[in-house]
Amino acid sequence: MKVSIKDLVDSVKDKLTFPKVAMRILRLFEEDDLSAYHLAKIVSLDPILAAYILKVSNSAFYNFPGKVKTLSDAITLIGFEEVKKIVIMISAKNAFKVSDEFDKILWEHSLAVAVGSSVVNERVKITEDGVAYISGLLHDIGKIVFKKSELTDYMEILKKSYEDGEDIRLLEEEKYGYNHADVGGYILQEWNFDQEIIDAVSFHHLNFSLKKTSDFLKKAALVNFSDFIVNNLLGIGKKYKIDDESIVLGLSSAKVIGFEEEHLSGLTDEIERKFEILASTMEEGV
Ligand SMILES: [Fe+2]
Ligand SMILES: [Fe+2]
Repeated sequence: MKVSIKDLVDSVKDKLTFPKVAMRILRLFEEDDLSAYHLAKIVSLDPILAAYILKVSNSAFYNFPGKVKTLSDAITLIGFEEVKKIVIMISAKNAFKVSDEFDKILWEHSLAVAVGSSVVNERVKITEDGVAYISGLLHDIGKIVFKKSELTDYMEILKKSYEDGEDIRLLEEEKYGYNHADVGGYILQEWNFDQEIIDAVSFHHLNFSLKKTSDFLKKAALVNFSDFIVNNLLGIGKKYKIDDESIVLGLSSAKVIGFEEEHLSGLTDEIERKFEILASTMEEGV
């Protein structure tokens, strides 16, 4: 018997949660009169989160001269939008909890797609930076659900897609009747994420050549495009890389987001450099 998406998501409820304090912080950003002081106060409730925000603020990612000493300084310097990204990044890292080789690949892949979506978005201007980054970071959260559940035997699929380069979406659909993008959208809905992020995640494996371009499809196409770059040009998530960068210009998702040859210059280097700084900052812990 096939497992429904609801049963699948229910089966990981105890193992996969999004921290309450993170959701509380995210809700804060909806307030018009949010101050750095107020934000620092709430963030301080979670000392690990606070320490990470300081650490990332002091990393080469921002390259500030001098040391950022207090949380309020960090928030003022990097800005609210960056704080939001770091809060989600820390929470996602906990959710992805690395216990084997594939968890590590999935976590690094997700972080790289977050950075990738943000860098690509800077060039093609599809959405806000935070939306691009968070959608990229969580785009494959459905794979974590599949992997953590006892109702599925997902390892085989992960291996086939990583080692033999088979299309994971098709393997999932054949076995379960739905794919990790469907599952990701479902769990983000349960976690009360913004609809635009849910849509970008739910549709990131759509066949973009068949669809008309609406606003939410552009965000999904942005994630799809960054996912391709990270997998195939950087080899973060896939075992084999492609050498020819210009291959991305022919993707249907590139057409949807208006990605042209001029946008390609320095792109993969920038994604790789930013990803490496973030990955090593997160790896060291606090
Ligand atoms: Fe995916
Ligand atoms: Fe992916």
